[in-house]
Amino acid sequence: MNLYGKDLICTQEWKIKELEAVLELAAKMKRDRYSPRWTSLLQHRTFLMFFYNPSVRTRQSFETAATELGGHAQFLEPRAMRLKTATTAGETIEDAANVMSRFAHGLGIRILEDQISAYGEGDDLLREYAKWCTIPVISMAHDKFHPCQGLADLMGLHTHLGDVKGKKTLVTWGSGALVRSWCSPQEYMLITSRFGMNVTLAYPEGYDLDPEVIAQVKANCAQNGTSFEIVHDSVSGYDGADVVYSRNWMSPVAYASGELDKASERAKAALHPGWITDAARMKRTNNALFIHPMPVDRGSEVTDEIASGPRSIIYDVAENRLHVQKALMALTMTDAL
Ligand code: CP
Repeated sequence: MNLYGKDLICTQEWKIKELEAVLELAAKMKRDRYSPRWTSLLQHRTFLMFFYNPSVRTRQSFETAATELGGHAQFLEPRAMRLKTATTAGETIEDAANVMSRFAHGLGIRILEDQISAYGEGDDLLREYAKWCTIPVISMAHDKFHPCQGLADLMGLHTHLGDVKGKKTLVTWGSGALVRSWCSPQEYMLITSRFGMNVTLAYPEGYDLDPEVIAQVKANCAQNGTSFEIVHDSVSGYDGADVVYSRNWMSPVAYASGELDKASERAKAALHPGWITDAARMKRTNNALFIHPMPVDRGSEVTDEIASGPRSIIYDVAENRLHVQKALMALTMTDAL
């Protein structure tokens, strides 16, 4: 499988076989973490990590991944560069991307929430970098997709469920004031539907996700002969679920004023208290696993009892970020494997 130089902006854009190659290598790297087969793969190679927004897991896991592969990950923020924006003069993406490509062997970008003024701008930015870069561009979470998280989620489900085909996952909106982007639940639904899961999406009226993504999830389910449904109550979706994913997300009008209106979004979310994954709801499931990309908003999206309970796989999935990203970097930043 030759993935050398390939961008990863959304898992949907990769073939199933390519995703499986990443997951298989990640599993080997997890089993045999410091094998000499991997520890020099990125020797003398640098991964640039360009963060418009903060991160715990993504920065730490990419940096650790580069270290474990014998390479280096360099942290960058927009304030450390002089980039042209809608309101400031500066360097174009064409120039920045071409120069980065002369130094490094891979570029990760994160752009979310208050760093954009309309949904889709982050995706456009990544694709503009990918157009000019001669090195692979990997999304480290942007407004539309979070492919590394999706791969880590699926790896966790394979570990705990084996084959996921025909299993039911509930993806439910969660209460809270965090005004979160759509990238993680969208990526999760794309990759789980692609790999054969039945998907139920639950959210209060007014919290629709990207219609193009929903259409693609439906198409994935149709192709696999599985089901996709949307419900607007906080309970029924749990019935018979094998996996429960809860997450707060912003409404489709969050950017209506030309910037992210956090105050309005918080006020709107406050009208929907009680959309929380708790023991009573989990009792309706098929002894479901609880999964979440983290950071978890405990007490709003999920109770402590469930987040820290025996069916929670949140830490396994967080750890998987390291292994899938090592596999991704090894496959896209070198042609050694
Ligand atoms: N899940 C995830 O991307 O976590 P961070 O925001 O901490 O990187």
